[in-house]
Amino acid sequence: MVAAISRKPVHLAYDDPCGSLRLRRALQGYLWRSRSVRCHVDQIVVVNGSQQGLDICSRLLLDAGDRFVMEDPGYQIAKVVFAATGAIAVPVPVDADGLDTKRVAKIEARLAYVTPSHQYPLGGVLPVARRYELLAWARKHDAWLIEDDYDSEYRYDTKPVPPLQTLQDSGRVVYLGTVSKTLSPTLRVGYLVVPAGLQSAFAAAKQVMDRHTPLLEQEALAAMLESGTYEGHVRRARRRNAERRESLLQALHRRFGDRVRVEGAAAGLHLVAWFEGLPIAAEDDLVRTARSKGVGVYPISPLFDQRTAVRPDVVGLVMGYSALDAKQIEKGCKLLADAVEQIDRLANWTR
Ligand SMILES: Cc1ncc(COP(=O)(O)O)c(C=O)c1O
Repeated sequence: MVAAISRKPVHLAYDDPCGSLRLRRALQGYLWRSRSVRCHVDQIVVVNGSQQGLDICSRLLLDAGDRFVMEDPGYQIAKVVFAATGAIAVPVPVDADGLDTKRVAKIEARLAYVTPSHQYPLGGVLPVARRYELLAWARKHDAWLIEDDYDSEYRYDTKPVPPLQTLQDSGRVVYLGTVSKTLSPTLRVGYLVVPAGLQSAFAAAKQVMDRHTPLLEQEALAAMLESGTYEGHVRRARRRNAERRESLLQALHRRFGDRVRVEGAAAGLHLVAWFEGLPIAAEDDLVRTARSKGVGVYPISPLFDQRTAVRPDVVGLVMGYSALDAKQIEKGCKLLADAVEQIDRLANWTR
């Protein structure tokens, strides 16, 4: 570390709050090649993961009492960040295609937070027609759209759909990307593409928060992007994760047959397994029992807005597969089946 710093005297001063110019140039090219996002380097702000990106958006774009649209179920940590400003979440249901934009059309709000590439957690890919509806809504209400493109690198059975950032003609989209799903969530590196008129506000907010994202990580990522190593790595990761997804789908099918309905497996790094006939009341027990056997699964219920009537009636588990090889996936599904059987016996689950 000391050697890396002392090699470049420039490291003895603060850098641009928006991030290293080298990295922003590399990201500009990458976003164009991979996502057809066309932007000026000045529109890119490097942040400490999507989380800081969301935090800056909430501070700049929301005031206390404002309303914001949240996908329901949705990414709760985003909701918490937006709500911390005193703004009020308006939950809008999600179906197999993502956010129900017809419902959004009737809502008055300042901002909508969306995951169009792979809805979190249900996994729908928002069709182009809905994307245009959302953009029309934002234009009509003078509202902001936060497009969280957190795992768009992983697409298996679906065609690419252009991001809102590309489809827009009104400069109301803040695009948010991260390396958490491609490299590691421990790096804490993400990036925003902000509307042209908001560059200086975002730069000032980032500077007030922490001056800038650590430079060494930025330089390392820039080097990976420039050399093509990053895209090569993403291609390999996509192939490996497609295999892992297949292993999980097959293992679920073998162990549970028709009892499990899978949703949202066409993209991303997780899917949702619905346990038909296993009542929602058993969800916590199942998660606890599975965890006691060493299987890390996450219940879907807490991702629903607790105030609305939109609630699942059967157990749903969010299952990530990217960190596990085929053997571990097979073993995990066997242990999960044991856990279901245990719950089954206790609750006298009727089939
Ligand atoms: C919807 C969503 N957005 C973003 C992220 C990544 O967040 P970060 O970049 O802060 O690690 C995740 C991680 O699971 C996620 O589920």
